[in-house]
Amino acid sequence: MNISEKMKQDWNQRAQHHARFWIATENYQTEDVFAQSGQDTAQALLIALQGLYQPSWKVLDIGCGIGRVLKPLASYFEALVGVDVSSAMIAQSKTWLSEYPHVTTLETSGVDLQEFGDKSFDLVYSYVTFQHMARPVFEQYLREINRVLNPQGYLVLQLPIGPYHDVPTEDTIGIRSYPLKEIVQKLHNNGLAFCHDPQVTVTSTDIHQPFDHRFHIIKKIHAIKPSMSVEWVPLKHPQHPSPLDIALYETYAEDCVKSGHSQEGIRTLRSLVNQYPQHLEGWLHLAAVLLENDQVQQAITTMQELTALHPRYQEGQAVLQQLLAKRQQTTTASQEEQEQFTCGITDRAFN
Ligand SMILES: C[S@@+](CC[C@H](N)C(=O)[O-])C[C@H]1O[C@@H](n2cnc3c(N)ncnc32)[C@H](O)[C@@H]1O
Repeated sequence: MNISEKMKQDWNQRAQHHARFWIATENYQTEDVFAQSGQDTAQALLIALQGLYQPSWKVLDIGCGIGRVLKPLASYFEALVGVDVSSAMIAQSKTWLSEYPHVTTLETSGVDLQEFGDKSFDLVYSYVTFQHMARPVFEQYLREINRVLNPQGYLVLQLPIGPYHDVPTEDTIGIRSYPLKEIVQKLHNNGLAFCHDPQVTVTSTDIHQPFDHRFHIIKKIHAIKPSMSVEWVPLKHPQHPSPLDIALYETYAEDCVKSGHSQEGIRTLRSLVNQYPQHLEGWLHLAAVLLENDQVQQAITTMQELTALHPRYQEGQAVLQQLLAKRQQTTTASQEEQEQFTCGITDRAFN
């Protein structure tokens, strides 16, 4: 599996699970909330451009998802294109953008923009996307952006700028953060530069802390020699768990349970343990939610699966024993109830 395949696999899985959640984890609950968040992002982008844009501009969104930001931008520009590594996101974008024929979306490799000719866009932007990519993929995009951007065009970029932070190459959602010096150098290497000195705040990579979502305006300084060869860092552990992926699945499942949608929470936890069977707490969480919903037998089956996969996991064995004991008690109790009920009927029949 190469990095393109890995990004496709993971993002398709997320899009099939709940696209709105994985695009806007804080604003996914209803279509209206989600749409409003797209309006807010589009406005922030236009404000960052400070009136520099023209309606005739051709616009490219890299990592467009289902078109959350493209939709509100559609009334400002004559032609917009969105690309995404995930075919499942693109499939859903067709519905989300069905009323906007001048907005097109397509699935791409996730590592280049080979579908587009040189100088074919006036504005390229990307939001909460580059932060999830391995550094070499981001650099390849910068090379490609230089190629597809008009000499007078702009790149409007959102990227956490702050302390250096990286995660393994195969982690397709963990957040990377770039020191200012590194990002300036990478832009420079690819014929690009900030229009204004960016204001940098300390950026957190903890998902529970807000991090920098500001847009930065970048211009093209000179063309660079096209170089499409990529020395990809091989994926050593393609199925290595991503802590942020797991934390977000858990968060979503918890939200579901709290809002009374337990079956959706159960479905999510089931897909989490299928994807990451080594995530032991996920199994316990699944069994707990099943139990809360009186699905004792399913909870037992879940723990039996866990203990078969991880026979030395003592906590798993202990929980399984407790569940079996609970079932025994329930069966005995319901047998007694049944007997009392039967006796009651018999007594009534004969007295
Ligand atoms: C958090 S979502 C944001 C979507 C959209 N930018 C928005 O703000 O609504 C990240 C998106 O980037 C896409 N993505 C991830 N890696 C990508 C890559 N290497 N190339 C293109 N798209 C990518 C994902 O499939 C997902 O749709």
